[in-house]
Amino acid sequence: MTSAVPTPAVHKTVAELRRGLGAWRKSGERIALVPTMGALHAGHISLVELARAKAGRVVVSIFVNPAQFAPNEDFARYPRVFEQDLALLAAAGADAVFHPAPGEIYPEGFATTVSLAGPATAGLEDRFRPTHFQGVATIVAKLLIQALPDIAVFGEKDFQQLAVIRRMAADLDLPAQILGAPTLREADGLALSSRNAYLSERERKFAPHLNQAMQWAAGRIRAGEPLEAALRDARAAISGAGFNLDYLEVRDAGTLAPPAVGQIQGLRLLAAARLGTTRLIDNIAVDAAPAKG
Ligand code: PAF
Repeated sequence: MTSAVPTPAVHKTVAELRRGLGAWRKSGERIALVPTMGALHAGHISLVELARAKAGRVVVSIFVNPAQFAPNEDFARYPRVFEQDLALLAAAGADAVFHPAPGEIYPEGFATTVSLAGPATAGLEDRFRPTHFQGVATIVAKLLIQALPDIAVFGEKDFQQLAVIRRMAADLDLPAQILGAPTLREADGLALSSRNAYLSERERKFAPHLNQAMQWAAGRIRAGEPLEAALRDARAAISGAGFNLDYLEVRDAGTLAPPAVGQIQGLRLLAAARLGTTRLIDNIAVDAAPAKG
């Protein structure tokens, strides 16, 4: 006989969420929040597992945030599979799910947003999605204020997003500790993403070329080759594999600023490219081995 997994409590309003989490807080339990837009995959579940390892209670938010999509983006077709997500979260041991309606988050008259600089204006995603991070930061600030978690977990897959959220939490004295979780990948290197579901069979075959070209560039940089040559060749390889490349850049992993002259440690390679109508992003660490003394 199999024992049934308890279904997480589902809160649909901020008041319900605060009541549920307040009871845990009163009894001294640490709370971790995992913000998501649903369409959960193994990458999200790894965030829940990290959250469970760090806190006694885990709450996962599922909200497809209209404010972070531009009018030409995939808000309408973004997969919404709440019952499937709930089953996955039950199996992963999440304690609660916050699943608000858009009107709960953005009521009539909503007029306040978070204004960003620093990593949000690094010239990466922001160049192609100029309103995206303001939407992300505003919803994440709201979630952190609504849930008041001890910890909030975000995937490193959205590396610029993670840097933006860390900066915002520090600048606004939001009390949650922001944790990044490593990217999960398919066996062929493709980073897990809810948007991989949009890829046709043929596009799915080509998709790993993005990560392969990035690994190649990182290896050359580690071996001491000039950044620009490694980037130029990898950009050509990505375009040659059928992608429309938005960017492939090396940045300081903390600030996302261009590397300082001679910098070989703490570097991150970040890319975004489109295969057909699907936009893929990826990033990897580049760290060169320290010079032997
Ligand atoms: O990474 C995501 O899924 C979203 O950008 C987030 C952090 C849940 C905000 O909507």
